[in-house]
Amino acid sequence: MFTLPKLPYDYDALEPAMSADTLQFHHDKHHKAYVEKTNALAAKAGLEGKSLEDVVRAASRTGEKTLFNNAAQAWNHAFFWNCMTDRFAAPDRRLKAAIETAFGSQDAFADQFVEQGASQFGSGWVWLAAGPEGLKIMTTHDADDTLIKDGLFPLLVCDVWEHAYYLDYQNDRKAFLTSWIEKLANFEFAAEQLAASEGQGEGFRYPPPGPAQAHAPEEEAPGPRDQYPA
Ligand code: FE2
Repeated sequence: MFTLPKLPYDYDALEPAMSADTLQFHHDKHHKAYVEKTNALAAKAGLEGKSLEDVVRAASRTGEKTLFNNAAQAWNHAFFWNCMTDRFAAPDRRLKAAIETAFGSQDAFADQFVEQGASQFGSGWVWLAAGPEGLKIMTTHDADDTLIKDGLFPLLVCDVWEHAYYLDYQNDRKAFLTSWIEKLANFEFAAEQLAASEGQGEGFRYPPPGPAQAHAPEEEAPGPRDQYPA
């Protein structure tokens, strides 16, 4: 059974760039639903006990689309929470150098990230990833992710599904992305991922599956941050 990871900050910690309402709905409703559906479908597919990364890859290989969509969304959102911070800081020296090599400057990188995310048709994700030829920005549709792309290691992702920004920015996805890259992007986490892509550290992994909660309380539920321990 996969559990919904706790957010690494309070619901209101990202305001005003991301409201507490957006974050709470996104985490407690959307992400929770993906995790619950993954648990049900992974069990049916005989994948209980596997890591979420393995479930995503297995579902992609076998063409189990509904399982893939839910498992990949469960993983993408857990990764996404780590890609935001309430203590914004510019990239460190090593990440800054990699960004400048790939895009020319931090500003050019930010512009391209915003532009590609804003141009993504329909729902999806915009990523900064490390590949054989250095850093690149890419978008994926719906639940698609970098786990099933050979040779790519994700450093940063922003959710461009409407549920990520509509309460705060309505249809102005570009304003959301601009605010996100300038105020919320967690370059410290991206730097750790970059180091892992070069063999230093393991990089982000979804919390491993734990035992099924056969006797989960049915009475009044505790608050969401207490209910789903990391
Ligand atoms: Fe989302």
